[in-house]
Order: sequence, then structure tokens, then C-alpha cells
Amino acid sequence: MNFYVTTPIYYVNDRPHIGHAYTTTIADVLARYHRLFGDRVFFLTGTDEHGQKVKKAAETRGVTPQEHVDEYVKRFEQAWKEMGISYDYFIRTTFEFHKKVVQDSLAKLYEQGEIYSDDYEGWYSVGDEMFFTGKDLVDGKAPTGREVVKIVEKNYFFRMSKYQQQLIDYIQDNPKFIQPEGKRSEILGFLKQPLQDLCISRPKSRLDWGVELPFDRQYVTYVWFDALLNYVTGIGYGQEDKDQKQFEAFWAEAVHLLGKDILTTHAVYWPTMLMALNIPLPKTIFAHGWWLNDDDGKMSKSSGPIVSHEHVIDLVGLEGLRYFLCREVRFGNDARYSDDILVSRINSELANNLGNLASRTIGLVAKYFKGVPESRQQLDETKELGKIAMATALAVREQIDRLVLDEAIGSVIQLLDRTNQYLDKLEPWRTAKESPEDAAEALYTSLEVLRFVAVLLSPVMPEKMAELAKRIGWSGELKYEDLSSWGLLKAGAEVIKGQPLFPRIERQAVP
Ligand code: MSP
Repeated sequence: MNFYVTTPIYYVNDRPHIGHAYTTTIADVLARYHRLFGDRVFFLTGTDEHGQKVKKAAETRGVTPQEHVDEYVKRFEQAWKEMGISYDYFIRTTFEFHKKVVQDSLAKLYEQGEIYSDDYEGWYSVGDEMFFTGKDLVDGKAPTGREVVKIVEKNYFFRMSKYQQQLIDYIQDNPKFIQPEGKRSEILGFLKQPLQDLCISRPKSRLDWGVELPFDRQYVTYVWFDALLNYVTGIGYGQEDKDQKQFEAFWAEAVHLLGKDILTTHAVYWPTMLMALNIPLPKTIFAHGWWLNDDDGKMSKSSGPIVSHEHVIDLVGLEGLRYFLCREVRFGNDARYSDDILVSRINSELANNLGNLASRTIGLVAKYFKGVPESRQQLDETKELGKIAMATALAVREQIDRLVLDEAIGSVIQLLDRTNQYLDKLEPWRTAKESPEDAAEALYTSLEVLRFVAVLLSPVMPEKMAELAKRIGWSGELKYEDLSSWGLLKAGAEVIKGQPLFPRIERQAVP
């Protein structure tokens, strides 16, 4: 199977914060799960470098837009490097090949009559350098309170309205196209109103930082039209033979991950653009929720404190951050961030549950046996737990296919809970002396469960899980296919006690 996952391409006007890190981490974890399952994976991320926002950011800094983007893109590349993000390609919309495909696509649509010119009437705020429609205005002024003047200017429009019914039919026939379900209904609701054509140009007199229209050099392309095309250019569309083949191999499997604030552009503009270009639609568009500040505001540059990934990494480590982002949120819903929420999640599930099970099992094995013990595996409880572990492996795969990462991790946590109960019942620490065979069975079973857990959580916490595998005496790679058999840990293999894998995080009370 092939799997293609994308993140939105980020505007390079800002430092990356936890909102950006969120989408990117989810994409990374999904990519790693699919590699674990043996799929061929392509993971694309990148930066959105044209348009007003970037131009403004450059002006404020007193540099050219190109200088600005070349410098700021490094922050994103650096952040993803620090976070171990395993993307296959990083696309920048200022790359020549991308711009060329944008222009080729525009030329094709223009020739086909899918793009036409017309007068555009709107309100322009000189101070904001922005165009507003009548309904954007507040008391006859720009939303920023600045004065506006009425402007009529020629622009180019994409015949988006022509595809309205085709899009509605597609969404209705393909229930998994827009997810989660609530967002699908929102878009179907939105499509009950007549769809307007999309203005895809900006006169250079107002904005010159963009991809020039191939049929009118006085204009640049509207930034979203340029940006959305990254999802096909980044994997080879419209390029040399080999790249085109790669595009054809992966495109039908495309999963776009994005925040709910940019759902309309992805679920309406993008599919209609693809229809006009005669490109099939991606498999799934998944809109996730927002990370909110404690006071319920979306975390963004304009709304107060932004939590950086560095801050979270300082508190709980990189893999703690990855675990938290994947686990804390029901994928699709909003979630609240605070240091307390973070620390209590990590302490309860990683330190107390997984970490504790690992250290007590390994500790007892080291104390009473010379390595992984020989075990009869004959108790009903043992057989039952083995079955649960194998069923968990299947459940996780199915949950990853449905993109519900929090549930997949939840399945592993349930397996850990069952194993803790199993040990509490068999009490190997009590039986170790008078009935070593019983203790051996209980401890071997717990080690085997830990082997399953190391594989199943390796996409979320690659380093910690590799370390866990080593400690329980598993010297091979972590492979999903090894979860179709129970009992692969070899008796006699060395276990390693070491420092706690997940030390409890103690925080001083905030004054
Ligand atoms: N450049 C466009 C995307 C073009 S894709 C063809 C853009 N960039 S962005 O940098 O502003 O935002 C990118 C993503 O970050 C969006 O999916 C947005 O939802 C996400 N987040 C920004 N702040 C966020 C939170 N506080 N929480 C979760 N995600 C948030 O939009």
C-alpha cells in the first residue's frame, strides 16, 4: 500500500509554535506508523512564501521578501530537525519548478476558458494594504478601523461556481473525503449557498510578491491558488517523467492534514481547482482542532502567549511532547494547553503506567533470574493476555487507518492496564522464591507485552521505545510483523535495569 501525507505549508512570517508543531507531529507519527506497517510512504511539508503577509513581514524588517523568506524558512527547517520530523520532501513555493507548474496550470485553465477577466469592486484600505468586500466592513471602515476607498479594478477569476454541484455530489458519494464528520456537514451546509467565482489575481500595483500570471504580466497569482498546488508539485506533478510517475503512484492515497481555520480553502477551492485541471481528488481532507490557551483563545501570534515546542521539550522531553500532542486531543477537537495538563498526562501514562510496569518487571527479572526467564505459558490468564496483545496490534492498525491517533495510543494504554492487573494478581515478587516457575511465567508475559508496546508506540516515541526493547532483551529491529506471534522473546537474553525510562516529572508549584 502507498500512503501520502501532507501538512499545510506554513507562512514564513512567524516563528513556529505548538500549533504548527502539532500538525507536523501528527503527520510524522502517521508516516512512521505506515512505514512500520510496511507501506511506501511520502510525507510532504514546506513553506508558503508568497503573498501579502510575507511581503509585510519583510517590509517591517527592512529586507526584500526573498531575503526574508530565505532567512525565516530556516526556523522551520531547524524546528523540524530538532523535533526529528521524518519528512520526505520540504517544498518552498518560491522554488522555480513549483512556480513553473503554477504558471502552466494557470495557462491551461485560461486557454480552456476556466479563467476570465472582470471588474472587481471592493473597498481598499491603504493603511492595511488590503481589499475588503462590503460585508467585511465595520461601520464603513476596515476591520482595523482604518479608512477605506471604493476601488474598481480589473482582475482574473476562476469559474469555481461551475463546479458547485459536482463537488456536492462528490462529498455526498465519498463520506470519508472530508473528516471529521462535523466538518463534512459544515462544508455541505456552506455549499447550500451559491458559490462565487474565485478571484485569483492581484494587480502588481498593489502586490508584487507572487507568481506572475502567464497571460498578463501586470498581475501575480492569489497566494492560495499558488499554495494549494504545492500538494501536487511537491510530489512530482507536471515535472519530468520519473517525478510524474511518483505523483501517479501516490496521489490517490493523499491525506491532507490541516487546521479547521483553513478548511474552506482545502475543501472547496482545492477540489474545484483539481476538477478544472482534470486531476482526481485526494483521498482525505482532515481538519483538526486548535490548541487553545488556558483562557480558551486560539494560540496565535495575535492572541497572547504562544507556547513554543522548546518550552514543552524543556519540561517533558521531545518524545514526551510527541506523546502529548498525539494523545491529549481527540483528533478533530480543540484542546487546551497548560503546563499542568501536560505534566499530569505524562506522569500518569508514561511514568506511572508504562515506566512503572517496565521498571518493576525488569527489576524483578534481574533480581530473581539471570535474564529473560524460561516460561511455560500455561495459565489461562497468560493465554488471555497474549490474545489481548495480538488483538491490540490489529486494533492499532485499524485506528491508524482511521487517523484516530489518540484512540490507537489508548488501546496500548489499556493493554498496559491489563498487564498491571495481571501482575498484581500473580504477584511474582511473592512467588519468586517458593514457586519460581509461576514467577517466571508472569514476568515473561509482562516482558512480552512490553515488546508489543515497544513496537506499537515506536512511531510516537522512536528513541524511548528502541531503548525499552533493548532493556527487555530484544536485540532485533522493531517490526510490526513480529506482533503476529506471541513468545518471540528468547529465554536467557540479557535485561538491562538502567535509569527510569520515564522519570516522574516534579514541578515546583507555580506561585
Ligand atoms: N499558509 C497557509 C496554509 C497553506 S496550505 C496550502 C497557512 N499557514 S499558517 O502558518 O498560518 O498555518 C498553518 C497551520 O497551522 C494551519 O493548519 C493552522 O490551523 C495551524 N495552526 C496555527 N495555530 C494553531 C493552533 N493554535 N492550534 C492548532 N493548529 C494551529 O494557513
